[in-house]
Amino acid sequence: MKTDSRIYLLSLDHPEIGAEEVVALTRTALGKPPSCFQAGDLLMVQDSVSGLGQRLAYAKAVCKVVAEATPETLAASIKGIDWNRHIKGSFKAEIRRARNYMNAPVELSESELGAMLYENLESPSVSLENPDTTFTLFVAGEKLFLSLLEEKVPTDFMQRRPHLRPVMHPSSIHPRLARACVNLTGLLSGTIMDPFCGTGGILIEAGLLGFSIKGCDIKHRMIEACEKNLNHYNLKAELFVGDALAAELNADAIVTDIPYGRNTTLTMDAAELVNSFLSRETTAKRMVLMIPDTLQPEKIRYGNWLLEKQFTHYIHKSLSKRILVLKKN
Ligand SMILES: C[S@@+](CC[C@H](N)C(=O)[O-])C[C@H]1O[C@@H](n2cnc3c(N)ncnc32)[C@H](O)[C@@H]1O
Repeated sequence: MKTDSRIYLLSLDHPEIGAEEVVALTRTALGKPPSCFQAGDLLMVQDSVSGLGQRLAYAKAVCKVVAEATPETLAASIKGIDWNRHIKGSFKAEIRRARNYMNAPVELSESELGAMLYENLESPSVSLENPDTTFTLFVAGEKLFLSLLEEKVPTDFMQRRPHLRPVMHPSSIHPRLARACVNLTGLLSGTIMDPFCGTGGILIEAGLLGFSIKGCDIKHRMIEACEKNLNHYNLKAELFVGDALAAELNADAIVTDIPYGRNTTLTMDAAELVNSFLSRETTAKRMVLMIPDTLQPEKIRYGNWLLEKQFTHYIHKSLSKRILVLKKN
């Protein structure tokens, strides 16, 4: 497989989740962990794969690295590259510094940078509004990356927010978080199951990413609502009414949001529900579980699951979720 270095410009809303989405998906594509360097909202992946940008949730853009430099070698690096090979049509040059990171001073303005590229091109044309090629100089500490914009990450989640679906339920998570959780499994294809599927927030994102989808909910009306919502996006799923603590859990990965609070049916204490669920037999090798962050971690019994990563995600002033990324032991 051909690999190149890429910079993933992460969303400041949650750069840690954004970075792990990229790492998990790249690890699956390569069959080994990628070599990475993170500086604030910039993630540089040395052996990256193409096309991830269209799947990601907490990222803004993907850029291909043409060369690396330091503040001292920058001018020579720019002059040493034949930019006619890389810059097609009109171009724009920009400088981006890693956010919340100690960056080296780079005594070069965007217009000076643009002028250096301009001199190097056979038939240069500049467009600041609508360039064919965007050249970005990323500054990450002492490391500088000369790169070209490859993909903008789609932001169409907003059109899929719960209140814009045929059936709305207040417990449904934001599509961006749902998509991120699907990506955190690291799965690129296969079947994703949500055994507490509600009105289908997770299943919609998994379906749109091309997975086969399966859902179960204890309430008949939730399954009906879920089917209506999936139809709205032309998605088909295997849905059934059932108890997640008794139903068959046959899938490659489970992605779910454990029910809690007044908008869901809680038949037992949250810790008991999580522990009973984690002790279930399943074919899934990966699981991404959202739980309320009020549930104390020491109360969780992982059984056959290994906790690989965990994140906290703010939802609103009285609720944050802990996202547990689990792997079968
Ligand atoms: C937090 S909601 C799911 C929201 C969904 N993830 C979304 O984003 O649209 C939890 C759902 O779990 C269901 N539920 C509660 N106990 C259950 C159980 N034992 N088995 C299956 N579903 C259950 C509730 O009916 C509710 O619809």
